[in-house]
Amino acid sequence: MTTQTLPQPLTLRADGPLAGTATVPGDKSISHRALMFGALAVGETVVDGLLEGEDVHATANALRAMGAEIVREGDGGGTSARWRVWGVGVGGLLQPATALDMGNSGTSTRLLMGLVASHPITATFIGDASLSGRPMARVAEPLRLMGASIAAAPGTRLPLTLTGRCPAVPLRYVLSVASAQVKSAVLLAGLNTPGRTTVVEREATRDHSERMLRGFGAEVTVEDAPEGRAITVGGEAELRPQAIAVPGDISSAAFPLVAALIVPGSRVTLTGVGVNPTRDGLLRVLAMMGAAVERVNPREVGGEPVADLVVTASDLTGIDVPPEVAPSMIDEFPALFVAAALSHGRTVMRGLAELRVKESDRIATMAAGLTACGVRVEELPDGLIVHGSDGEAIAGGATVAARLDHRIAMSFAVLGLRARAAVTIDDARPIATSFPGFVALMEGLGAYRPV
Ligand code: S3P
Repeated sequence: MTTQTLPQPLTLRADGPLAGTATVPGDKSISHRALMFGALAVGETVVDGLLEGEDVHATANALRAMGAEIVREGDGGGTSARWRVWGVGVGGLLQPATALDMGNSGTSTRLLMGLVASHPITATFIGDASLSGRPMARVAEPLRLMGASIAAAPGTRLPLTLTGRCPAVPLRYVLSVASAQVKSAVLLAGLNTPGRTTVVEREATRDHSERMLRGFGAEVTVEDAPEGRAITVGGEAELRPQAIAVPGDISSAAFPLVAALIVPGSRVTLTGVGVNPTRDGLLRVLAMMGAAVERVNPREVGGEPVADLVVTASDLTGIDVPPEVAPSMIDEFPALFVAAALSHGRTVMRGLAELRVKESDRIATMAAGLTACGVRVEELPDGLIVHGSDGEAIAGGATVAARLDHRIAMSFAVLGLRARAAVTIDDARPIATSFPGFVALMEGLGAYRPV
């Protein structure tokens, strides 16, 4: 995230129901992958609906520094420009001349580490204060086994310098954390590795890499193994350029969706939202809590299931969220905590240790902010219990620290819509990493910034 400007506090309020139709920006995970896979294909890949957030720009800049040509078509205005990528081919990445600045983006860092690991080049990864605190050992371990050399700050954190091995050593690797980033890093390293590289995951994580790599012509197989789901990629792959349409990001849709649920009388339609079954856990959990979210006009976009979501304000009831749903909604827990704060009874959420190593420690950051806003919570080592307000507006009246975390900032902006006194986010700049038009979209639905 850019830290050149001053912190930008944000307060959102609602005087009445939210209403209208909105389209959320493109999926962040798919946008990163579209650029990366395009950069590894020979020829022109065309991407429509790319998320134009800071995280995706970090990926684009890094790929340019390693030889890919990436351009945005048009005049720089609008929200759905077409992007074109001319790739260098698998094995063709060039040594970057300077350090790769990953900003706030863990996905850029971890997936690009995988790419570099099987190329005969050295790259240094740097990032902002949030990213520099995040663990990279989970990716470094399998990439070292494939032959990469990695020197990093204590705790295997950024700044980190990775020298790839070519040819790298193929691997069968069982993930120790449920992480699509680690899975994808190893599969990407496997693309330029002789033989076959296999990743086994005990719990299914988002499968965009598998789907998209197949689309680009890589040999990808998925089978049941004793330890879980085994994904194998054929090495020395040749990727064919693609035309990609990026679906709307369910992780961004989560915020206007929860807002519409908790502001009485609201009815909002969110169009073209990706509902891949490895990503739609929030919809399943909210349905268990009594949320009226209808999936209409189901279709396929870019090889991914997509639907319009019609959201009607609902009386929610707290539940014990089944821990096995966590990987399919890992980024949506901050939004779910907000929904839980307005529910009847308590919502118990466990099995969320991974939330402690996201852009911030999302359990601690959300617990602190919710408490400051008058919501009773109990912090667990791996989760949170939220005692709901039984459908009444919460107290609010606090300034909450976003801690360089876009999803924390958006969560509290949404909570403030149903608070008796205003909730202010100390710094809304991180929102630009994943959802640059968030405030404008919320204003379009009837929220406003008090003057
Ligand atoms: C992502 C995977 C998830 C998610 C992140 C994006 C991806 O991270 O939190 O926002 O694009 O693969 P983990 O792999 O660390 O769970």
